[in-house]
Amino acid sequence: MPLEKLIAARAPCDISIDSPPGWPADALERMYTVGRSMPVFSLKGRVGLVTGASRGIGRAIATELAGAGARLALHGRRVTPELRILARSLSGSAGPSRAFGGDLSNPAAVKRLLRQVGRWSPRLDFVVANAGVYAGTPSPEVTESEWDEMLGINLRGSFRTAQWALPLLRRSTHAAVVLVSSILAARASPGGIPYQSSKAGVEQMGRALAVELAPRIRVNVVAPGFIRTDMNRSGHEDPTFRRQVEMATPLARWGEAEDIAPAVRFLLSDEASWITGSVLLIDGGLGLE
Ligand SMILES: NC(=O)c1ccc[n+]([C@@H]2O[C@H](COP(=O)([O-])OP(=O)(O)OC[C@H]3O[C@@H](n4cnc5c(N)ncnc54)[C@H](OP(=O)(O)O)[C@@H]3O)[C@@H](O)[C@H]2O)c1
Repeated sequence: MPLEKLIAARAPCDISIDSPPGWPADALERMYTVGRSMPVFSLKGRVGLVTGASRGIGRAIATELAGAGARLALHGRRVTPELRILARSLSGSAGPSRAFGGDLSNPAAVKRLLRQVGRWSPRLDFVVANAGVYAGTPSPEVTESEWDEMLGINLRGSFRTAQWALPLLRRSTHAAVVLVSSILAARASPGGIPYQSSKAGVEQMGRALAVELAPRIRVNVVAPGFIRTDMNRSGHEDPTFRRQVEMATPLARWGEAEDIAPAVRFLLSDEASWITGSVLLIDGGLGLE
């Protein structure tokens, strides 16, 4: 079948491609077919840690990465029966995944977590620092403990996770880190200043780590818009606010945790091997306006 017909049959478009002169008649067709049948964004044989994997975006990321062939250390604040079940269900041909606990607001607990992960697997190919907390408190009411909690978990917790994972990442030849920021790192909103400050810090931390750890370890950031998870349940369960977000979002809906996961898979894969220090906004276009 001519290449143009093959392409038209799979992905309709209005371009046509001429076969280069002198090439065997079926060369492009074979190249195209082989290209399409090779697994893309594969993480086969890779081992990684996902923090905050017990729920929401982290759970969706873990499911996606396991589907790409990775073996996972799944982290939650505590090791619950649900987290253990998730680890069992995501254990595939790559070997058993495992549940780990640790309160990321406590640096000693983060260190302990990475020590335990290191005993489970002395090499990590990737780390996804996803765990986080949110509060939208107006500035006059922000307490010392709320400030410490937001910055302690979102910013310091992500840094300590990456920092103490370094000896394990350095044993990999494909090492990559993805940090999870937020649309609110760059788009200002009233209330929740500690959260917004922590996520702005995460983005700069991603860029600075990318430079410091290059060329052996890539570091990128994903910045989600409004995603329907427990974190903003009160927002998407409020019909007025839900509608406001839909109307302000060019792609006209709230995001799902599964909208974030494939981008993380891509950034960890070899197809992204020349991408580091980037911040990928995944927000249905909300940040454009
Ligand atoms: N949802 C959104 O609209 C949105 C938008 C932009 C950015 N984000 C970011 O995306 C990430 C995931 O958010 P999500 O919506 O999936 O939130 P979520 O459903 O509330 O889940 C939060 C996750 O973080 C873990 N976690 C929270 N505090 C922790 C602590 N002190 N120590 C250890 N783990 C802790 C939780 O573990 P436990 O289950 O054990 O508590 C849970 O796994 C966060 O960094 C968030 O800031 C979310």
